[in-house]
Amino acid sequence: MKQSLTLEFNRIFNKEPQNAYFSPGRVNLIGEHIDYNGGLVMPCAITFGTYLLVSPNSDGVFRFRSLNFDEKLDVPVQNDYTKTDEFWFNYPLGVIEYFLKDGHPVSGLDMLFYGDIPISSGLSSSASIEVVTAFALNDLMSSGYSKLDLVKLAKSVENNFIGVNCGIMDQFAVAFGEKSKALMLNCDTLDYKAVDSNLGEYILAIINTNKPRKLAESKYNERVQECQAALAALQQELDINNLCDIDTATFNKHSHLITDKVVYNRAKHVIEENDRVKLAAVALSQNDLNEFGRLMYASHDSLRDLYEVSGIELDAIAEYSKIDANVAGARMTGAGFGGCGIALVKESAYEDFSRNITTYYTNKIGYAPSVYRSLIGDGVGVMKSES
Ligand code: GLA
Repeated sequence: MKQSLTLEFNRIFNKEPQNAYFSPGRVNLIGEHIDYNGGLVMPCAITFGTYLLVSPNSDGVFRFRSLNFDEKLDVPVQNDYTKTDEFWFNYPLGVIEYFLKDGHPVSGLDMLFYGDIPISSGLSSSASIEVVTAFALNDLMSSGYSKLDLVKLAKSVENNFIGVNCGIMDQFAVAFGEKSKALMLNCDTLDYKAVDSNLGEYILAIINTNKPRKLAESKYNERVQECQAALAALQQELDINNLCDIDTATFNKHSHLITDKVVYNRAKHVIEENDRVKLAAVALSQNDLNEFGRLMYASHDSLRDLYEVSGIELDAIAEYSKIDANVAGARMTGAGFGGCGIALVKESAYEDFSRNITTYYTNKIGYAPSVYRSLIGDGVGVMKSES
């Protein structure tokens, strides 16, 4: 990979890249729509991600090129930037903007990006490109940020430059992910543990609905607001900062404060999902994959019925999984509204699973999903020469 990207860099810029970096995408095993409510999530970095090859220039220009998209951008080094339409280069441009805003100078760069995360698949291609850019700038400019600073900066870019009010899970996972580990992350304190994602006889399959994600950003921001409304209602009686500061039993005692049924459903999902993550952590540590799978199905049902971010495509993945005896559990992963599902599948039955779910999904939805065998990989870093 490094060799072929270097050739492309040469072809485009007529020189050698000085450095090469990689940041992965992520899946979330459980704990959905929890991060912006201050609770627990369990994401893993995956081996798909974004590559960035870069070389400084003395022209005082930032040149953004991608092997995935035709649009390119050349802009002079200046004090501030704004987002242009919905182009891919807004993400790295936003990162540069935030370095500058923070008082960290950045000089001219020729940058070539390549991503192998399926576009709009909900596997965090945006966090991946933000974090790889932030990591690269920090390294090249010796800006002195810690990895956690870079995660927070990338989240600010997404919130304020791009305009999606996401939580911190994706940027955190793609930065701190570790091979064969899941991260148990407390999104309030940012304490985390990398736990062995020992799945025994099972492997993790990723099933991409291939559904174009429309309205996902505005619906996402709407959910964030509904959670804020639920929190404000509960704060009339409870001294809490986040919905996830309470468990289901406490919620049930005070839920009468939430008069809007939709807002009530959103809060119920969040608080019960947070409790499910705690149970899932215990199940994983005891290698109880059946219990883990049961919690995955419960998570999916709640995202479908209470949080209303699933859809017939993601539901079809969970439905098929329930009738396949070789699957311990399945659920949608990420924000929803299309994107991907994940399933815990017996390794010995993976090929059958892949074939059968493709048939089931295609018959029901009218086009095929893509099925991947997921490998849990490392977080952001300098690109290894063997990759
Ligand atoms: C998106 C957001 C994350 C998180 C998930 C849902 O991936 O970027 O911050 O909220 O949705 O869990």
